[in-house]
Amino acid sequence: MSNFDELHDRKNSHSVKWNAEFLDKMFGKGDVLPFWVADMDFRAPEKLISNLKERAEHGFYGYEFRPDHIKEKIIEWCYRRHEWEIDPKNLTFAPSVLSAISILLELESREGDGVIIQPPVYYPFEETIINSKRKPVYNKLIEEKGFYRMDFDNLRECAALDDVKIMIISSPHNPVGRVWSEAELVETATICEENGVLLISDEIHMEFVFDHLFFLTTAQLEEKLRRNTVQLFSAGKTFNLSGNTIGIAHFNDRDLQSRFNSFLTRFHLNGVNVFTTTALETVFTEGESWFDELLLYLEDNLDYVESRLKEELPEVKLFRPEGTYLLWLSFAEFGFKGRELEKLLMEKASLALDPGRWFGEDYASYARLNIGCSRKLLEEAMDRLIGVFGGIKS
Ligand SMILES: Cc1ncc(COP(=O)(O)O)c(C=O)c1O
Repeated sequence: MSNFDELHDRKNSHSVKWNAEFLDKMFGKGDVLPFWVADMDFRAPEKLISNLKERAEHGFYGYEFRPDHIKEKIIEWCYRRHEWEIDPKNLTFAPSVLSAISILLELESREGDGVIIQPPVYYPFEETIINSKRKPVYNKLIEEKGFYRMDFDNLRECAALDDVKIMIISSPHNPVGRVWSEAELVETATICEENGVLLISDEIHMEFVFDHLFFLTTAQLEEKLRRNTVQLFSAGKTFNLSGNTIGIAHFNDRDLQSRFNSFLTRFHLNGVNVFTTTALETVFTEGESWFDELLLYLEDNLDYVESRLKEELPEVKLFRPEGTYLLWLSFAEFGFKGRELEKLLMEKASLALDPGRWFGEDYASYARLNIGCSRKLLEEAMDRLIGVFGGIKS
């Protein structure tokens, strides 16, 4: 059994989540409790730590190739967990999920072209599009009675624009936590296919699904639709390995895959990190029970936050996520303007949450809370939130 309750001191590391210097740069204050960035405060599975130690003790870190059986382990995992049958030829490793997105933008669109995203959404999508000199085209999610859904009427209009070439979805969706249904995925993929828009499905959070819901990858859609999609995932979120970066791309179109591979070769982006090989091999063969326990722990954390807010701070609206360990909270009932909410969170509560405005300009009264931490830490966060915001309402 793993001890997810254990508290760990990560301040004396270069963790972007915890390092005071880094926090100061990001938030203007170093001495805060961090609940931002999708990085969990749980120690990796013991078997991973011991295998990495063993690999380090080997003492040779020269050039290596990535053995074929790594792909087999990933394929077996995806089949066991999602009934997703993968042909090993369809998989390509990339430096990270975001770098795979950048490469796809480069290959499948030109400067000035439009790329559809659905705010509120993981902010590096927009940054990546802008850095690639493409244009974000926004198909905002619609919120109704605490539930977010896609705006298909607007999506049809966006996809039909001449210069729109790509759509990126987050599935499950960071930060609102939707696990898209088959009907929603079919409709999205159909609109993209009919308009010649490549659908990039970022499925990095696919293992984090609660309440016995089933995650469906866009690779399982009917042939005509899936041919026009690329799936991206990684072990980074599942096993909290994001500092050991590697992305996995699944292609359904060999021509696009071959151009992607050529790009990796041309820019020497297909080198192998010797520790990543050990990490992937270990987690995909021996990490499953650790992950299953983790998921239960996260679900308990979610129930805990939900019940405390309901009982002690109902003005803060939680959009109970179907998936991901990221909670989207609305503070709109307090009527804050501009950065008032951020100031209260940082200065009064000394909590670093991802400010809502990072996810889109309309979300200044929202914040994202990462519950991938020990219950004790989460209790401290809830005490502080309720202390500060409970004081405002009275
Ligand atoms: C939706 C989503 N995509 C991609 C990433 C980053 O992936 P990578 O580190 O492999 O680029 C994250 C990290 O938080 C994420 O939440």
